[in-house]
Amino acid sequence: MASKLRRATAMLHRPRLRTGFGETSDALFVTASFSYESGEAAEPCFGEPGGRYCYTRVGNPTIHALEERWAELQGTEAAIATASGMAAIQGVLLGLMKAGSRLVASRPLFGSCMWLCTDLLPRYGVQVDFVDAWDMDGFAQALGRPADLVLVETPANPTLDLIDIGAVANLAHAAGAKLVVDDALASPICQRSAEHGADIVVTSATKHADGQGRVLGGLIACDRLTRDDVLHPFIKHTGPILSPFNAWVLLKSLETLELRVERMAASAAQVADWLHERLGSSRVRYPGLASDRHHDIAARQMMSGGTLVSFRTGGGKAGAFDFLRRLQVIEITNNLGDSRTIATHPATTTHARLPVEERGRIGIHEDLIRLSVGLEHPADLIEDLERGLG
Ligand SMILES: Cc1ncc(COP(=O)(O)O)c(C=O)c1O
Repeated sequence: MASKLRRATAMLHRPRLRTGFGETSDALFVTASFSYESGEAAEPCFGEPGGRYCYTRVGNPTIHALEERWAELQGTEAAIATASGMAAIQGVLLGLMKAGSRLVASRPLFGSCMWLCTDLLPRYGVQVDFVDAWDMDGFAQALGRPADLVLVETPANPTLDLIDIGAVANLAHAAGAKLVVDDALASPICQRSAEHGADIVVTSATKHADGQGRVLGGLIACDRLTRDDVLHPFIKHTGPILSPFNAWVLLKSLETLELRVERMAASAAQVADWLHERLGSSRVRYPGLASDRHHDIAARQMMSGGTLVSFRTGGGKAGAFDFLRRLQVIEITNNLGDSRTIATHPATTTHARLPVEERGRIGIHEDLIRLSVGLEHPADLIEDLERGLG
């Protein structure tokens, strides 16, 4: 097999997980543990890292194949799979910090990430300071003193604000911190954060990686040392590992990830153009639009504008709910990155925990809709949006 393959090819051929039966599809190992021929054969498995498989919480061939394919896609040395996107984020935050550590986090953050930062980490003596996603001076100020970790979500959920990964990576490294990027809204098909300076990339595999609304999963891409010395011990001893079946579903999904996400992003660009014309630039956010305030960052660090568009219907919460009620094709749910187009009302769902004034300040208005564009024909989506807007 050729040593260097382009990513689309690698997603089909790397790694090749085959048993002696020569099956063409990747093998699925649904087993809790592995057995040994003798006591002597078992003994070394419990001391030597990288030895044979002994127990699925510690390692499993199907999960391992997914991790290798993901590292190849993200362009990192290693990857580690977890039970959900949140398991990946809590693994990184708790695994890399301790009492007395300092975290600098961007805002807005996905609701559960916000809870980790405001409710969980302070309980364990971690100091958390927030910086608004669009405030580079704020990042420079916050990282003018030592920190241990910087967590940014870019594109941000649900406002689609972008953060300059390279600039924040420089500031984080100068402060002695590692930069963690949550790229759930982009996927590595639209943004390869590690190439821009992220040390660790966390992804909710529930989104584009599965892309068909079936399984939960999380993926962490990082260097080998961080995986072996910090994250693998943390995940294996605390237990939030991915099930082999879900790993197999994700492994198969990666074969079509590029195809799906590129098509979804092309449709999202068409939908964003239409919404921009219909509603005006002040009511639509899409990083691919030339009028968007973060378009220059998108041009530097994203391969497309992505698959999500956010817009304001007008008329407050009632206006947003009227819009949702009129839809006939687009589904109302709070997932994203699915092959079906999804409309979400963040103020009453994913970001409902935030106080109203805070939501308004960061752009999560009562009439904001987050649209995750899927694989339907864009003309049908535009007709449905027209119907929804009335
Ligand atoms: C930006 C972001 N990060 C993390 C998560 C959590 O992922 P999961 O639901 O797989 O735990 C989500 C889920 O919507 C998200 O949008």
